[in-house]
Amino acid sequence: MKVLFINGPNLNALGKRQPEIYGTLTLSQIEQLVDFYAAQQGVNLVCFQSNQEGTLIDFIQAEGWDADGVIINPGALTHYGLALRDALASLEAPIIEVHLSNVYQREPFRHTSVIAPIATGQIAGLGWLGYRLALEWLIEEMPRLRFEKQSEVSDADTDADMDADTDADE
Ligand code: DQA
Repeated sequence: MKVLFINGPNLNALGKRQPEIYGTLTLSQIEQLVDFYAAQQGVNLVCFQSNQEGTLIDFIQAEGWDADGVIINPGALTHYGLALRDALASLEAPIIEVHLSNVYQREPFRHTSVIAPIATGQIAGLGWLGYRLALEWLIEEMPRLRFEKQSEVSDADTDADMDADTDADE
């Protein structure tokens, strides 16, 4: 199982950046903690951070097609990053949007997410643990998601067979 773990602008400064809001762990420490859990569960976690929207999109286009899930904290791009949203929306994998802080308790501009409508779910306000919880959800749900996808494929095959039969009968 391959999961992308993506952090957007300014999250490289975690640890130094407003620790009263974002906590004292650095991004590298958080990535190690989440990866420790991922490795225990047999998950290949691919970590990436960029301050540039285009670079995030390039990464998603390079690594996203065969990913089973995406955990992303888009930083401030959450609130206006439409190109990032389009890149995420083009993937089949479920997207989990994570925020360290409770954005809904903060300035009004943080209450809107352009990513949320294309995400499967959102976690906000639980600090770094939100990332690990997102991963736990993906691991728990993956068998069901795969089963549903498989059923969609076989339903489509059955429909196609029935159409072919009907055509043959005509
Ligand atoms: C954030 C919240 C955003 O509003 C902000 O721009 C960030 C971090 C969070 O993790 O709480 O950079 O996504």
